[in-house]
Amino acid sequence: MLSSGRLAAEVLAELDERRQNDPDVHGHRLFGLVYPTGRKDIEALIGEVYERFLFSNALNPRRFTELAKIEQEVISTAADLVHRAPGDKPAGTMTSGGTESILMSMLTNRERARSRGIEHPQVLAPESAHPAYAKAAHYFGMDYASIPLDDDYRADVGAARSLVNERTCVIVASAYSYPHGIVDPVVDLAGLAAGHGAGCHVDACIGGFVLPFLEMLGRPVPPWDFRVDGVTEISMDLHKYGYVPKGASVILHRDDDWFSHQVFFYDQWGSGLYGTPAIAGARTAAPIVAAWAVGQYLGVEGYLEIVADLCATTDRVRQGIEAIDGLQIVGDPIGPLLALKSDQVDLYSVADVMDDRGWYLNRNTKPYGLHFMLSPIHGQVVGQFLDDLAYAVAHHGPSKGKQARYS
Ligand SMILES: Cc1ncc(COP(=O)(O)O)c(C=O)c1O
Repeated sequence: MLSSGRLAAEVLAELDERRQNDPDVHGHRLFGLVYPTGRKDIEALIGEVYERFLFSNALNPRRFTELAKIEQEVISTAADLVHRAPGDKPAGTMTSGGTESILMSMLTNRERARSRGIEHPQVLAPESAHPAYAKAAHYFGMDYASIPLDDDYRADVGAARSLVNERTCVIVASAYSYPHGIVDPVVDLAGLAAGHGAGCHVDACIGGFVLPFLEMLGRPVPPWDFRVDGVTEISMDLHKYGYVPKGASVILHRDDDWFSHQVFFYDQWGSGLYGTPAIAGARTAAPIVAAWAVGQYLGVEGYLEIVADLCATTDRVRQGIEAIDGLQIVGDPIGPLLALKSDQVDLYSVADVMDDRGWYLNRNTKPYGLHFMLSPIHGQVVGQFLDDLAYAVAHHGPSKGKQARYS
């Protein structure tokens, strides 16, 4: 209920108190959901940007023309990183996040299929694909089929071959997947898709601002971007490993003309022609401009430095985990995301002890175990984290029955 009005200081004091009930987004204890760098310089820049663009609206590119240009520059930068050939028309659009990017791609793929006379298209996605693909199939009236994973937790190409059919409008590949941090066999899946006239969406929502820099650092990265024939769309989130606040993702199309499939126009309205490139109407400008500003500020060198540090942290965590009896890393993850399994200890019980010590680890169901995404800030607490994990493995009791829930 609205009060009769309060002092600003009082309002802020209450908010300061209430946010203590949630995890510290600048802290070391969360693994995923937020991606803290621990860099005050980056956060100060973002704060300045937000102050300047607090109320701007990216809905109307004809009114906010400069904002529209800034957005295009972010899209071009992302497109360069994933080796999209420059075109004449927009390569894609910015969206509010990975889910919206995926929704727009699935809509595009549905429309492409419809233009080929396919009435009831099917989305084919690995079991490890993000639920946003199932959500898109649900929203847009498409069938959804899951590709089982092979022993390395990658989409099983043989199984994909037996599932693909004349109604398949898109095959999904993750680069890399959320549950296991593994890159799917993009070359095989994209080839399979192209052979059936289908699209191939590569979900680089978490990997998009990691894999290009890993490659530049000389780490082995399997082919996954627009250099792979048959890849038609790529989604990449700036609000994850791009280190921008929530509300910033990019969906890119290989072909200049495909973007138009996701644009909605309505010309029967009393206030004139209405058009939007994605689901949102009014769009908050600050994350768009923050994406531009962080990119300008860090540049290639800045991102490389962060990714190199992140690799060093991940290597230390991996080695520490491998030294704890009973713990195994799931598959061979490529980036700063590790899933754990065990045939000796109940990892949900281990997670209970870690919960008690204030670490927010995620629980995985397939395989049964734990999951965490490392951010730059975790470099400061590797020793403490590994000590607590070793303690939890050695001293856990029976599981408290807490289930795996992402949201
Ligand atoms: C691989 C992958 N794709 C898509 C998404 C969805 O992104 P968002 O939560 O920004 O909608 C996520 C979120 O974690 C993800 O990990």
